[in-house]
Amino acid sequence: MQPVAPPVKKRSNLPLFAPPRNKPNPPIAPPPPSPLRYPSMGPGNHQATTTRGLNVTNSNPTPYGTGDSSFVAAGGEAGLIALVNDFYDVMETLPEATTILGMHPVDLTESRDKLSLFLSGWLNGPNTFRPKYGRVSIPQAHSHLPIGESEMEAWLRCMEIALSRQPYADDFKDYLLRQLRVPANRCRTR
Ligand code: HEM
Repeated sequence: MQPVAPPVKKRSNLPLFAPPRNKPNPPIAPPPPSPLRYPSMGPGNHQATTTRGLNVTNSNPTPYGTGDSSFVAAGGEAGLIALVNDFYDVMETLPEATTILGMHPVDLTESRDKLSLFLSGWLNGPNTFRPKYGRVSIPQAHSHLPIGESEMEAWLRCMEIALSRQPYADDFKDYLLRQLRVPANRCRTR
């Protein structure tokens, strides 16, 4: 007897049909290099304030988007887990995010894991999403969802608030939010 996987519990009755498999998977490009350099490179300013004991000190003057500099600026895997946990905590409480929260499974554990692993590879860190969850095309992964401008803005607002809670350099927060707008736009289905 084949074991039968339990159905994923959804918050709403939105259609859950699988995205078409015969379409090409357009890759979402990682964010490009930023002309900005880490602001904390001034003399005596090499220690960023952290709230979680993460070391996000920027002792590397490489612009964001070059090599793994953005992944490092995000605090590596631990930093991304903290960011994504805050992101979904905000989504669960922000009134303007009610609609997009309703598109997610009731249990957000896997959503949290998927987004933090995805962001790791997207920021040129280790590609930890693929070995665990397989290939993903961001537009295709959202093609079954009714995402318009207000849903996209709600998603970005959750991210903006989550970013404000991280011990990142301010210019990195701005850079990341700007760059996330690109794939967020490609998630729109209307
Ligand atoms: C534009 C607004 C967005 C909304 C409303 C949204 C909403 C969602 C929802 C509801 C799911 C779960 C789908 C399901 O369980 O059926 C999901 C999955 C996911 N989202 Fe988004 N998302 C948005 C933007 C983004 C962006 C910008 C990224 C990446 C930078 C992203 C990365 C992911 C990933 C990696 C998954 C998991 C895909 C998979 O299951 O293979 N999302 N998103």
